[in-house]
Amino acid sequence: MKTTATLFSLLGLAFAHDSHHAHIAKRQSAAAAAGTQVVDGVTIPPLASITFGMPTATTPAATATATPGAAPPFSGGPKLPSPAWAFAQGQWPEMDKPIDSTSAQVQEWMKELDGYDIPDFSPTVDGSCVNDTAAEADAAKRGWWTCGGYTRDTDIVACPDKMTWGVSFDDGPAPYSTVLLEYLKQKSVSATFFVVGSRVIEYPGILINEYMAGHEISVHTWSHPHLTSLTNAQIVAELGWTRKAIQAVLGVTPTTMRPPYGDIDDRVRMIALAMGLVPIIWTRTDDGHSFDTFDWMVAGGTVPGSTSFAEFQSILGNASTLNTGFAVLQHDLYEITVDLAVGYTLNAALTHNPPFTLEAVGKCSKIPTTNLYVESNTNKTFPFPAPPKSMASGSNSSSSANSTSSGSSSNGKVSSQQGASGTGGAPRSLALSLPLGAAALLALAALL
Ligand SMILES: *[C@@H]1O[C@H](CO)[C@@H](O)[C@H](O)[C@H]1NC(C)=O
Ligand SMILES: *[C@@H]1O[C@H](CO)[C@@H](O)[C@H](O)[C@H]1NC(C)=O
Ligand SMILES: *[C@@H]1O[C@H](CO)[C@@H](O)[C@H](O)[C@H]1NC(C)=O
Ligand SMILES: *[C@@H]1O[C@H](CO)[C@@H](O)[C@H](O)[C@H]1NC(C)=O
Ligand SMILES: *[C@@H]1O[C@H](CO)[C@@H](O)[C@H](O)[C@H]1NC(C)=O
Ligand SMILES: [Zn+2]
Repeated sequence: MKTTATLFSLLGLAFAHDSHHAHIAKRQSAAAAAGTQVVDGVTIPPLASITFGMPTATTPAATATATPGAAPPFSGGPKLPSPAWAFAQGQWPEMDKPIDSTSAQVQEWMKELDGYDIPDFSPTVDGSCVNDTAAEADAAKRGWWTCGGYTRDTDIVACPDKMTWGVSFDDGPAPYSTVLLEYLKQKSVSATFFVVGSRVIEYPGILINEYMAGHEISVHTWSHPHLTSLTNAQIVAELGWTRKAIQAVLGVTPTTMRPPYGDIDDRVRMIALAMGLVPIIWTRTDDGHSFDTFDWMVAGGTVPGSTSFAEFQSILGNASTLNTGFAVLQHDLYEITVDLAVGYTLNAALTHNPPFTLEAVGKCSKIPTTNLYVESNTNKTFPFPAPPKSMASGSNSSSSANSTSSGSSSNGKVSSQQGASGTGGAPRSLALSLPLGAAALLALAALL
């Protein structure tokens, strides 16, 4: 009796000290009646219940499990910073807001563009095709992915090997990334996290956990704008501050980036490359099918989870017919998008017949991990010794360069700042036109 009581209190203490397990246990009991499954310690709600407004689980704690100065997750990397990075007021731009691009810091980073032939395209109106017909008419010349899917040889848009999925999650780190990390660990799957600088300084511990678990960390932006709509200095500010935040927390500086909404053209590309960041987008087939799970629309309340998962199954079907592997747009910012990933999409690919290979984008692209960060990169030709003199002289990608804007759907994030309107034309395979309701926006703002 006494022993049992002691055991229970010890277990209770253990759970109290491990908020991740506490989170799982709590949700497990709360949702058991609703048909929720718990597989390998990860909670999986029924697909039909994955819809905007579903009950939320306890938020996992955001603390780093590694100690400052810990050995790096890969050979040749630097140790984690010691002491650990700590937020200091006034040293960072305001979270999720446009950045002051006239600051001395940004002017310093602007020097990285010296010697590079940055195209002088005017910024697009808002990154969308419909609101900028002049830029759309010029999309082929601009190499604008949003309107027509134009890519360049310097872009990574897929894993090279057939049946290989370059797994990635955008817009974190965020509290539910922790649940995703547990699932990825169970399945021995690595992923690339395209992180938002504002989230990095908000949840540095989660970024550390992603990196130390062997996942790849890449630059998204600071405030998630449409990069083609910004001035050169604003683009430099978005990429530069995100790069700096990652470096401050992890001690490594990524050599890759993903443009929000896939909104990239030759001006944005050349700036990214000049800053040592190789663009990674996601796959779009020749007939314009963008491999976007639309999980962000589930978070925004415009489609149920079942619609997003059906879209993902189409993606797997289309991916099976490609001669190469592929990359897909998914998000770890919201609990609901993590539920879709851990319960459905990842499992569907792992149990597919024949099974897909799931790997981080850099790994599937056979880029040594050391090359993914400036501090450990010994490869003089990566990112590139000197980006192509001008993008126009680079070759067009043979795939996806002839699709039409009707297939364009490149939105990547729903937030109260940006709104949720599709920016690259209506999603092709989802009949959606509902704008986000004010309540949904408020709820999303609360999540952030
Ligand atoms: C490819 O995706 C489309 C939806 O975009 C779907 O209708 C089609 O069935 C998919 N192809 C395969 C082979 O799954
Ligand atoms: C350097 O990186 C490039 C691009 O990833 C690769 O093609 C090349 O083989 C690498 N060279 C070495 C020596 O690792
Ligand atoms: C790329 O494709 C566009 C549109 O087809 C064409 O105008 C341009 O000349 C091509 N550029 C190269 C380098 O092949
Ligand atoms: C796009 O190009 C590929 C080969 O480059 C071709 O097979 C396909 O038919 C083209 N699609 C369109 C819509 O022109
Ligand atoms: C185009 O501009 C209108 C008016 O400013 C705006 O309401 C709409 O959301 C924009 N469309 C897209 C796709 O961004
Ligand atoms: Zn995004």
